[in-house]
Amino acid sequence: MLKPEDNELLTRVGPATAMGDLLRRFWLPALLEEEVHEKDGAPVRLRLLGEDLVAFRDTDGKLGILDAYCAHRRAHLYFGRNEECGIRCVYHGWKYDVSGRCVDMPSEPADSDFKDKVRTKSYPVETRGGVVWIYMGPAELEADLPDFEWARMPSSRCEITKRVQQCNWAQAVEGGIDSSHISYLHRNLRDLEPATSGTGHRSYTSRDRSPVFTVKETDYGLLIGARRNATEESFYWRITQFLVPFWTMIPPILREDVKDSAEDTYAGHAWVPIDDENTWTWSFNCNPHRDFDEKEKALFHPRTGMWGPIDDSYQPRWNKDNDYGLDRDLQNNVNYTGIKGIPNQDAAVQESMGPIADRSRETLGSSDKAIIAYRKLLLEMARALKSGQEPEAPSDASRYNVRSASVLLKKDVAFDDGAARLLSPRNDD
Ligand code: FES
Ligand SMILES: [Fe+2]
Repeated sequence: MLKPEDNELLTRVGPATAMGDLLRRFWLPALLEEEVHEKDGAPVRLRLLGEDLVAFRDTDGKLGILDAYCAHRRAHLYFGRNEECGIRCVYHGWKYDVSGRCVDMPSEPADSDFKDKVRTKSYPVETRGGVVWIYMGPAELEADLPDFEWARMPSSRCEITKRVQQCNWAQAVEGGIDSSHISYLHRNLRDLEPATSGTGHRSYTSRDRSPVFTVKETDYGLLIGARRNATEESFYWRITQFLVPFWTMIPPILREDVKDSAEDTYAGHAWVPIDDENTWTWSFNCNPHRDFDEKEKALFHPRTGMWGPIDDSYQPRWNKDNDYGLDRDLQNNVNYTGIKGIPNQDAAVQESMGPIADRSRETLGSSDKAIIAYRKLLLEMARALKSGQEPEAPSDASRYNVRSASVLLKKDVAFDDGAARLLSPRNDD
């Protein structure tokens, strides 16, 4: 449970809010590169942290993300002409380059130098891993992009996609952190009959549906271990990271008859606020050891695979307007929710809380330990920033070089020690 004022602090991300200021210290995924791949192509509208922006790739291939509204009289630059190394507002022809400089002002007298005094807001942009990243914070604090392993992988080993979610970012992050819901929300009914024998993820999670959480604070955020009983001597650990400010990792599904997920594909999300009531849900799958096979390519397909289906505007086919495709027959006979697809099940419950969940009316249990730790961390960081203390994590990009893991460990082994070799790509060297 949170006090109403803490819920406000956690969830409000617009300009000049404490959490908005904190999020502006980090690089954010803004667009997929495919959205702005064409030189002089159509400008793209986007909204992040409550700010309306416009993105374009200029004649030289440089990317710009500017304030969406023209510095003159605020017409939206989405309607602009992307031509000859700049975007030109169609209202009176003012033109801006990727750095936000006004480079032409045909509505003013030819001998006027007024254009040299005009700039519009532009944000630093980088591309990596098929993603266009944006930095919206103070220029003097701009750091390197977070060094995620998946972003260094070729597309044969990593797929990334995104979809819109109609709720506040924090309740979406909390869904990403919460490893206990997999035994319910994402279950098929046949798996609800406890398996009496067998190995692997399905057997262990069906036999033990009350994971015990251990949460450790780290220099990137939180390392979260969810422990289930597996055998007489061992626990099944699903180990995920929460990386500030909004990244959550998903561990691989432990296959039958193996002890750890060292060779397997891991996944994760970024929950990037569009504004207080809407979020971009980014999802990636990565196997650093080998190329995806045909089955995985279909499973991780950005539009039709496991994080979809989505349309050309990255809107989910199953959404709030159609009750996420809820089918009561399916719910009675096939799966727990009657909704098909993991992201649709997640979106249904996360959006069902309302645009901004009222955390002053919730009742938390022991399985919510990681969520409590996440809120505490973010609230502390936002308060610290308000009193002048900058967050440390963005200054060291290498902190983000982590993997999630699933592993069987002897009961007396600490999960972070036992899984250390699985949790960092550095250990492959
Ligand atoms: S409003 Fe853009 S040029 Fe006038
Ligand atoms: Fe989920």
